[in-house]
Amino acid sequence: MGIKRFSVGNVVLYHGDSLEVLEKLKSNSIGAVITDPPYASSGASSLTKAQAPSQKYQGSEVKNKHPEFMGENRDQRSFAFWASLWVSQCYRVVKIGAPICIFSDWRQLPVTTDYLQAGGFAYNGIIPWDKTESTRPARGKFRCQAEYIAWGFKVKCIGDNHPVYLKGAIRERVNPKEKLHMTGKPVAVMDHLVQVVPAGETVIDPFMGSGSTGVAAINAGLPFIGIEASTEYFEVAKKRLRAAYRDSIRKG
Ligand SMILES: C[S@@+](CC[C@H](N)C(=O)[O-])C[C@H]1O[C@@H](n2cnc3c(N)ncnc32)[C@H](O)[C@@H]1O
Repeated sequence: MGIKRFSVGNVVLYHGDSLEVLEKLKSNSIGAVITDPPYASSGASSLTKAQAPSQKYQGSEVKNKHPEFMGENRDQRSFAFWASLWVSQCYRVVKIGAPICIFSDWRQLPVTTDYLQAGGFAYNGIIPWDKTESTRPARGKFRCQAEYIAWGFKVKCIGDNHPVYLKGAIRERVNPKEKLHMTGKPVAVMDHLVQVVPAGETVIDPFMGSGSTGVAAINAGLPFIGIEASTEYFEVAKKRLRAAYRDSIRKG
């Protein structure tokens, strides 16, 4: 697919395939990767692989339906292989010391910590995100209440002079009214994650969806690069981040 570019202030968005776009970016130029890629979760059989994302992630009780998104239909081996390719590209484009944060669900956590390292990063741990009791209950089962952020660094942690001690777990409900993507992440969660980014450094999200990482980067006064393959979500992110950037300028 072709690549389209949009920019406003220090926010640059690409509509295209993340691997294609990443390959065009300069080496050692970016300060952090914070991303929520497709999980390709429960792709064990050809039947489940062919499922639309809405069948996995959108219960019948959901009132505000969102468009389908891309990248959910790989089986486990091709998912791991593909993920190590984009992580390798992220590794090339970031500076020494850059942190990486990658979202995962419980099923894909082992492969996520594998591909983070296969792509070259030093693995540093897991941040559990507790979505609270607002998640769907299941009789006789443990509630599926958490997602996870695997994180690490390029070569070494340079956070010794960082001004804040960051908490290692996040408790935050999903607010359906705030969600602009089927699996959109709350901005409050992203606000917490961007605190790990060294001052003034650019954040890249190669799977930006509706742009929640971008909003958090703008809130923190950081430059942002976002990539999204779906035309519908690229347009959502463009509108949202243009408004967030202009708002941040107005507020000073
Ligand atoms: C889990 S969603 C991200 C949601 C986002 N965190 C938010 O809050 O809106 C992953 C996104 O990656 C996009 N995507 C999947 N494969 C892609 C690819 N190869 N290149 C660029 N974007 C891709 C999907 O269309 C989807 O919108």
